[in-house]
Amino acid sequence: MNPLNEPPPVALPETGSPLYERLADHYRRVIAAGTLAPGDRMPSVRALMSQHRVSLSTAIQVFRSLEDAGWLQARPRAGYFVRRAPASRLANVAEPEIPSLAEPARYVGLHERISRVIERAQAFPDALNLGGATADAMLYPTQRLQALASRILRRRPTLLTEVGEDGGAIELRQAVAKRALSSGVSVAPDDVLVTSGGVEAVNLALRAVAQPGDTIAVESPAFFGLLQILESLGLRALEIPTSPTTGLSLEALDIASTACPDLKALVVVPNLQNPLGCVMPDARKAELVQLCARRGVALIEDEPYRELVESSEPARPLKAWDRDGGVIYCASLNKVLAPGMRLGWMASGRWQARVRLLKFAQTRHNESLAQLVAAEFIGSGAYDRHLHQLREKLRTQREASADAIGRYFPAGTRLSLPPGGLLLWVALPEGASSDALFEAALPHGIRLAPGSIFSNSDRFRSFIRLSCPAPFDYRIDTALRQLGTLAAELGRSA
Ligand SMILES: Cc1ncc(COP(=O)(O)O)c(C=O)c1O
Repeated sequence: MNPLNEPPPVALPETGSPLYERLADHYRRVIAAGTLAPGDRMPSVRALMSQHRVSLSTAIQVFRSLEDAGWLQARPRAGYFVRRAPASRLANVAEPEIPSLAEPARYVGLHERISRVIERAQAFPDALNLGGATADAMLYPTQRLQALASRILRRRPTLLTEVGEDGGAIELRQAVAKRALSSGVSVAPDDVLVTSGGVEAVNLALRAVAQPGDTIAVESPAFFGLLQILESLGLRALEIPTSPTTGLSLEALDIASTACPDLKALVVVPNLQNPLGCVMPDARKAELVQLCARRGVALIEDEPYRELVESSEPARPLKAWDRDGGVIYCASLNKVLAPGMRLGWMASGRWQARVRLLKFAQTRHNESLAQLVAAEFIGSGAYDRHLHQLREKLRTQREASADAIGRYFPAGTRLSLPPGGLLLWVALPEGASSDALFEAALPHGIRLAPGSIFSNSDRFRSFIRLSCPAPFDYRIDTALRQLGTLAAELGRSA
């Protein structure tokens, strides 16, 4: 088209900030005014270039900065879409305070608290489970995996009675090593050790780098399973404040690692942290790897949710910045492919020999059939198609639940909508007790995860983690309405 026939570009205020920032600001105002509504597709990169007469790199920077700030969401192969606000009256979860002095490391004494919550939940087996972190079986490719298993067994009739391979089936080690390349991680199949999910990988990593009594830094709040592992290994936990938007505070880690020079390791979930749902920006990931390398702190990267991040390009693990083998990468297929197969894998850098020895001594190799099924599925185009669908379904489920929380929960409730996954971290109004809400909800047939199990401190007693494991329906809507009513009643009687 003749550029002379095009309307002139929008006049942007001369604020002195870079062009891409001023343009991003313009789109922020357009979205806030409702001209582009939640769910609307943004103009394409090409349209932005010609409309505003900007270069490709400026246009891309505009999209990235809007995406980073939570205004847009990239959907692979479809473009950028305006993100739905989680009900307008819900503010984001507040940022943590960074203490000037690190808190002392403590032995994790949470076992009883966590066991009690699990026991109470088990007493109501028919309750709607909004307290787990795994999606419903219907969201995984059941039939395809079943068909692959039958085909593999026909091809290898003695598979169930043969001794499997140490370290894991070569087919799976090759498949995950090849796939890791697309996220910037270069590992050889021989560097990969197949494990029984992420929990075994993190267990092995901690045992390889630390002895009972040692101190390990963890995010605060952290996945309660990690706190159970630390406790079972007799380790001390040093909780590092973690932002619901950008993840672990590097500033706080810096202070803490100075105050605690014998810090042995840091365990971190940089992509879709559990329970916060945050994704650490790439620049911070690079900085974190450097900081740990400088301080001689082993970095254990726990990655069960990375493939669920909704972004235009695959989210990068910390391992992509590892230059000296200081990062132990622990991945899991349980959340993304098949919870029933309990498969995970790890690349242990400098600690590889020790980790192999520990795995051999502890559990030997995993059974072969599940590994071969996973290897064939991951190696085929079906894996990407499945992940694409899974991310889309989880997004719809999350947004519907967030909307319902906005409708039904008392004023003062806060929530940050994460860029992927199935977990929502909800701050109840000041002073509310999530333990009390957990107890009150069980007789109504609703299970949730109270914030108290995600930390050794009582900092998260007013938070709950709610999951969105299945398509939003009347049952979930009713449960969230009931939870909102209970939260309001507890607030009034507090
Ligand atoms: C952060 C984190 N790490 C590890 C795990 C456990 O992974 P897996 O089920 O693969 O053992 C979970 C499960 O909820 C998790 O949230």
